[in-house]
Amino acid sequence: MLPSKASFHRALLHVVNEAMVHAVTAHSFLTRNRMSHLFGTCGRGTFRVVDRPAFPRHEFFEPGRVFPCRLRHAAATFDDDAWLLVRSASIKLADTDYDAPLDIEMNTGQTALFSNTVQFVDFGRLSTGERIQRDGWYYRKYPLAWEGVKTGVRRTPRSYSLLHYYTQTCSRFVGLDGVERYMKLRLLPESREPDHGFPTAWDFARPINQHRLPDETRSPTFLRDEWEARVAREGARYWLQIQLREARPDDDDAVFDACREWDARLCPWVDLAHVCIDEVIPYAEANRIRFSLGHQPPSLGLLPAKSIWDHNSLNQMRALAARAKAARLRSYEIFGEPAEDGGRSATRFVR
Ligand code: HEM
Repeated sequence: MLPSKASFHRALLHVVNEAMVHAVTAHSFLTRNRMSHLFGTCGRGTFRVVDRPAFPRHEFFEPGRVFPCRLRHAAATFDDDAWLLVRSASIKLADTDYDAPLDIEMNTGQTALFSNTVQFVDFGRLSTGERIQRDGWYYRKYPLAWEGVKTGVRRTPRSYSLLHYYTQTCSRFVGLDGVERYMKLRLLPESREPDHGFPTAWDFARPINQHRLPDETRSPTFLRDEWEARVAREGARYWLQIQLREARPDDDDAVFDACREWDARLCPWVDLAHVCIDEVIPYAEANRIRFSLGHQPPSLGLLPAKSIWDHNSLNQMRALAARAKAARLRSYEIFGEPAEDGGRSATRFVR
């Protein structure tokens, strides 16, 4: 008997996601580096759920609940903070290298550069220099992904703690009322001031100018240095916000598309937790931190995917990538830990 169309699509999804994750795992092991977001800085502190949540009651996010946490900021891919880059904030709800009840990974920009397994495979075919080239074949094929670049990259922001970060993909949220909902999260500065560091027309001149500006004199690590000094001085403080929408049987595919925002008038952002980071974690210890999308309490979690075109396939692949992260750590045991080079490796990736 022939397999049904649905089981064929599921099997294909399994094969392609596994193949991608094998490739990423080999890369992480051989290079001893993260596949992306290589260069960053990290700290520890507390994550406190707000006292009067404006979202449906939830067993994990009980009002006032406090978790120890770690937060890592990084830049996607180049080791020079003066470049035009996507920046990130990842939070672990535990003060550990790995085990945690929940990990959250967020990038600057409301929308992503890819939104399913097929697009991620295509994205993986781009060289590092091509990743944000508007005229390239990738953005002609996926015009929405170019919006992700435009909203995501930042030039010389004032501080990692003053940017806005988004999960972009959505996941599951089941409150104490038992209603199935989808959630997205974002991290804002405590001051709630507007996002900044947006690219200019000069940055987007053809071909895109990702390098540091000719008159830029700051150190390649100025942003990391600023954040670490801020944490030591007064702490870095943020609000984590949540956006929810009720699951419906007739939900359009676009609901799950990381390249599209949800309408904030229909799904307003409300405060979820206050995050306070008050101690910097030294480089070697920070390097051992791994975040995993597999770290989810039962009342949250990833949405199932049916095919390589299903938008939820992206998070399924990310959860599998826990293996790549473990391989990076294993490579330290065999080849030794990578040395901190203070931004001098910036030229490694210049085309
Ligand atoms: C919209 C989609 C995505 C977002 C928002 C996202 C976000 C992030 C962030 C914030 C980090 C940095 C984590 C850290 O600081 O250690 C990261 C790293 C990473 N991501 Fe993604 N990611 C996405 C898609 C993917 C996909 C599809 C894969 C599939 C393999 C993937 C694999 C990885 C890996 C392997 C790392 C390096 C982690 C390590 O070695 O510890 N990501 N991602």
